[in-house]
Amino acid sequence: MKSLPFHSHPDLLVGLEQADDAGVYRLSPELALIQTVDFFTPIVNDPYQFGQIAAANALSDVYAMGGRPLTALNIACFPLKTTPPEVLKDILRGGMDKVHEAGALLVGGHSVEDPELKYGLAVTGVVHPDKILTKAGAMVGDVLILTKPLGTGIIATALKGRLASKEAEAAAIEVMSRLNKDAAEALEGLEVHAVTDITGFGLLGHGMELAAASKVELTIYASRVPMLSWAREYAAMGLVPAGSHANRRFCEQHLTVDPRVAQVNLDLLSDAQTSGGLFIAVAPPHDAILLTRLKDRGVADAAPIGEVTDTGQGRICVLL
Ligand code: CO
Ligand code: CO
Repeated sequence: MKSLPFHSHPDLLVGLEQADDAGVYRLSPELALIQTVDFFTPIVNDPYQFGQIAAANALSDVYAMGGRPLTALNIACFPLKTTPPEVLKDILRGGMDKVHEAGALLVGGHSVEDPELKYGLAVTGVVHPDKILTKAGAMVGDVLILTKPLGTGIIATALKGRLASKEAEAAAIEVMSRLNKDAAEALEGLEVHAVTDITGFGLLGHGMELAAASKVELTIYASRVPMLSWAREYAAMGLVPAGSHANRRFCEQHLTVDPRVAQVNLDLLSDAQTSGGLFIAVAPPHDAILLTRLKDRGVADAAPIGEVTDTGQGRICVLL
């Protein structure tokens, strides 16, 4: 999209120029519209659970902007000739249940016949124009908090190769289908400077986007980052998806890594996530309040994983 001429408008508060989690358009001084879309091929075997994950993932970008989802539209590509229609029904039911859990409404959608199954949603939300949370705005001294463990990409790869245990599969599904609603609501009224959600580019890729947009340098402590234990096990066996290697190469020139950081931890830091957690830059002492709120709301894996250590061009320093 970078090479295309984009149009700006005084009410377009977040658009292509910023490349944030979602677009934001001001309708009135008190109300702005958030719009986002995402869809992908199945990453788990159960159609209902795939629907739930796809919906949680699509809704996440609204939460990452500090907003509240209102409505959603299904997008489905379905191989009618090779797959029973019940599969599509289960996927759509999973998506619908998750949209309802988010307090939003499913209002329609569109499906096409396609040899490869894909599902996702376009989501519309709202936010007060003064309360938009973007990737820009992180400041030196901010504490970095991650709200979900990493490793779902590695476990999904193990699943495809029929190498994942039942426990690993269940843990990854639980993480990916969990809404970022509670985490987003915990931010209310706190001095939160920047937020994004961790998806395909992994923690390092999305962290780098946040660092670049905020013109700062981040320090992340690998040992403090929540990770699914099975994913570390599978990464040690070499089950790292190609996307994660690509993420790592993309980040390399902006990374400084303590040589004592274990390779499996680095694999997880660049692991492509689906429906990952929120990555939050919050000013002290509000980090402590936020962590208490997150635990109270059942966001049990949330952890402080680093700090904004300097102004700069988006470097990340990974320490032990
Ligand atoms: Co996002
Ligand atoms: Co997105």
